[in-house]
Amino acid sequence: MRTVTPDNITDVFTSYFGPDTDPRVREVLTSLARHLHDFARETRLTHAEWRKGLEALEWAGRITDPERNEFVLLSDVMGLSSLVDMLHSVPGATSSSVLGPFHVSNPPPLPIGGDMKRDFEGQVLLVEGHVRDTDGNPVGGAKLDIWQTAPNGMYSSQDPDQDIHSFHALMTADENGRYAFTTVRPVSYTVPNDGPVGQILDAAGRHPWRPSHLHYIVTAEGFRTLVTEVFPDDDPYLDQDTVFGVRDDLVMTYVEQPAGSFPEGFALSGKVPDAYSRVEFDFVLSKA
Ligand code: BEZ
Ligand code: FE
Repeated sequence: MRTVTPDNITDVFTSYFGPDTDPRVREVLTSLARHLHDFARETRLTHAEWRKGLEALEWAGRITDPERNEFVLLSDVMGLSSLVDMLHSVPGATSSSVLGPFHVSNPPPLPIGGDMKRDFEGQVLLVEGHVRDTDGNPVGGAKLDIWQTAPNGMYSSQDPDQDIHSFHALMTADENGRYAFTTVRPVSYTVPNDGPVGQILDAAGRHPWRPSHLHYIVTAEGFRTLVTEVFPDDDPYLDQDTVFGVRDDLVMTYVEQPAGSFPEGFALSGKVPDAYSRVEFDFVLSKA
């Protein structure tokens, strides 16, 4: 077809595929082109707007490095990362949620009952629960890779004043699938907003805040890896997470416990005379 028009350009695009194109590549690219073309036709996209969009992508490319991936952040704030997660969630298993850019490799091992807050100030939060399969059986020996913000709202990789492993831990659940540790409450924080994603949020009148959360990667032999986060039910940003990560089953309650009631069996036992908070959260893994 020689004459390309606004109406036939999507069909022309499809006709250009080679005969040996992988069927899935053909399906995904055809759909992507159709939606892109419809988007331009529907909005009557102008040259200036098209250029502005490309400039945002160019800027994203310039500031993306191994520590910061602006393209992933763009996908996050557009809801694409969360949508892909949700499309592949397994009924009966704990929902997955965004990984984010602040996970660090080789987190330090933490025994069950260990303390992740180390020397940081703040009310103690006791976190415990079990890892189970979708039939309710314990997943003994599951590994939980855990990370969160420090009380200043920064992850260790953002903050030169923190040790790179602060508020990161790797715990192995016991034979009953139980895990337990102490920390301080994570806090709400803003996603990086000094690049093109920040400009897009601004232009849309959106804020860059995420509700506070604990991050987990839960792995066990024979099970699908679960990348998720757990949110407190009283966070002001719970209903407007800028990266759309909140799911009903990931919301839990921090329950205030009276002074003098801190239990035995923790690294901090005997050292927490004050009130503390406690949260219980179970993970359900689906078979691989
Ligand atoms: C995070 O939760 O660490 C995060 C997720 C998406 C974008 C930025 C940060
Ligand atoms: Fe986070």
